[in-house]
Amino acid sequence: MWPRLISWLLPWRTQSARTGAITSSDAPALARLHAKDFARGWSVMEFQQLLTDQTIVCDGLFRGRSTSPLGFALSRVAGDEAELLTIVVLDVQRGRGNGGLLLNAHVNRLALRGVHALFLEVDAANKAALALYQRRGFREVGRREAYYPMPDGSRATALVMRRDLA
Ligand SMILES: CC(C)(COP(=O)(O)OP(=O)(O)OC[C@H]1O[C@@H](n2cnc3c(N)ncnc32)[C@H](O)[C@@H]1OP(=O)(O)O)[C@@H](O)C(=O)NCCC(=O)NCCS
Repeated sequence: MWPRLISWLLPWRTQSARTGAITSSDAPALARLHAKDFARGWSVMEFQQLLTDQTIVCDGLFRGRSTSPLGFALSRVAGDEAELLTIVVLDVQRGRGNGGLLLNAHVNRLALRGVHALFLEVDAANKAALALYQRRGFREVGRREAYYPMPDGSRATALVMRRDLA
């Protein structure tokens, strides 16, 4: 049994991550990934609507030949600007460069679509996300004190960040 289990697990651990297209059929997987990290996760229907919206660009993170996304980045485009609405990597896949891989691919695709500036909003206490964004050239352009309502009744500060793509 053990050799079989190990041979089944090994590709999962050793196959490198790749980015790829996301379609509306991925909506349930995206909703599951999103709900794990956000108090108000977006429903499957909300993802289906987003993924069929022409202004939305979404890229997925996959391992090997698997078609089940382990993460995704999703932005809304308006003219030559876009807003990164969310980026998520499955918890067990974090801290090994997957977020960076995904964000790089997403930024490249937005640039190809003619986006010159990418904005995002992030909780000032979200260290992993801040490291990811700062490392990839995003700079703080605004600060919204006491912006996000937290489960304990407090309010967290939101940072608005921008990166030029052109
Ligand atoms: C933010 C997120 C996508 C990053 O994904 P990831 O796969 O861990 O990203 P990476 O492994 O590429 O790491 C990105 C950077 O963050 C750093 N980092 C990772 N976890 C960290 C932590 N807990 N504290 C500080 N820095 C951290 C890494 O060292 C890396 O920095 P480097 O490029 O200078 O080496 C992931 O943590 C996540 O899905 N979080 C939950 C959802 C979320 O908060 N999304 C962002 C707001 S919408």
